[in-house]
Amino acid sequence: MTCLPFLCCRKLESATSRSPELNNELSGIHNVTLYSYKELRTATNDFSQINKIGEGGFGSVYKGKLRTGQIAAIKVLSTESSQGVKEFLTEIQLISDVEHENLVKLYGCCVEDNQRILVYNYLENNSLAQTLLGKGHSRIQFSWRTRVKICIGVAKGLAYLHEELQPHIVHRDIKASNILLDKDLTPKISDFGLARLIPPEMSHVSTRVAGTIGYLAPEYAIVGKLTRKADIYSFGVLLIEIVTGRCNTNMQLPVDEQYILERTWRLYQRRELVTLVDTSLNGDFDAEQACRFLKIGLLCTQDSPNLRPSMSTIVQLLSGEKNLDNIKITRPGLISDIMDMKVRPNSKPMPDINHTSSSYTSFGSEHLDSTLSTTRNFSQATMTFNSVYDRST
Ligand SMILES: Nc1ncnc2c1ncn2[C@@H]1O[C@H](COP(=O)(O)OP(=O)(O)OP(=O)(O)O)[C@@H](O)[C@H]1O
Ligand SMILES: [Mg+2]
Repeated sequence: MTCLPFLCCRKLESATSRSPELNNELSGIHNVTLYSYKELRTATNDFSQINKIGEGGFGSVYKGKLRTGQIAAIKVLSTESSQGVKEFLTEIQLISDVEHENLVKLYGCCVEDNQRILVYNYLENNSLAQTLLGKGHSRIQFSWRTRVKICIGVAKGLAYLHEELQPHIVHRDIKASNILLDKDLTPKISDFGLARLIPPEMSHVSTRVAGTIGYLAPEYAIVGKLTRKADIYSFGVLLIEIVTGRCNTNMQLPVDEQYILERTWRLYQRRELVTLVDTSLNGDFDAEQACRFLKIGLLCTQDSPNLRPSMSTIVQLLSGEKNLDNIKITRPGLISDIMDMKVRPNSKPMPDINHTSSSYTSFGSEHLDSTLSTTRNFSQATMTFNSVYDRST
């Protein structure tokens, strides 16, 4: 890829108005478009409430029209979550170099004073959380074909992040609200690389709703073991959500139906998987394919990370290029196991971190996931589990 100079014509002008310190920070950063705060303020009509399209753990998101006429999603990161300009831009540069049909495109950012703002391609059809799984009525009809396209698209995007990019990126937060849909309902994964912009002592994950725990791989939730396999676990849960049309956790349902993964495992054992498929499809789906997708969801969420296939294998399994029949599916890592540890700490020993780490050596190079996928700290994930659990009671 050609690296355009960081400062192109318009940006050169503003470079003269920047402090020498900032210009020094910016040296060596390429291929990132830098927006002025003024431009983004104009684009969003002074960050007006009318233009606000959502709020997540990282800050608020606004819809805006850039000077070029492009419509953008402008994410204002909460100030505490910001880091030094150089570090921030280095991360941004890695994200903005990434281009794939199933990944949201980062246009650039703004780093004036304490402001840290990200500017993304705007996606017309919102997220899967709001449309497919949302409580309100969505005007979008998710036919079986559309769901297949979404599942395979997300799998391809994640396979790209995990296996084609160098250095590879572990997303850390694969979930329905991070899957956005364009006008043709092509899925785009958002927020990849973002966790790196948050200081390790701030647990972004812990600030989120209880349902999120349903996406967390046990080894990540308990001891902070973060590898690509944790993303694959989350993808498995998402896959089951897309086929069933329901959130992974729903406390309004009878006890034995509250956690989708537990229910899927039970119905798999009873050979009744087909009963899980979203009833809003009115039976208009390929039953063999739907059951295969649910089985792949179980495979992705296997308790032992090394039993979970790589994302490129998952793409092949979903598209039918690879046969699932010869692959043994065992019990997935279930939320109730994690709950058990919290509720009855003496009933099962909490895994010893050193012991657990060494027992994962079969990951091969995965447990050494570098750069964007560091296993930064254990306390963060422990905190994640505790706080998420506390809110779910
Ligand atoms: N590029 C985009 N195009 C259109 N809408 C977007 C875009 N990015 C985010 N949004 C919307 O903004 C809302 C907030 O997104 P944000 O990523 O901040 O939070 P989240 O995904 O719900 O949670 P988290 O912070 O944990 O990722 C989401 O509902 C999403 O639909
Ligand atoms: Mg998000």
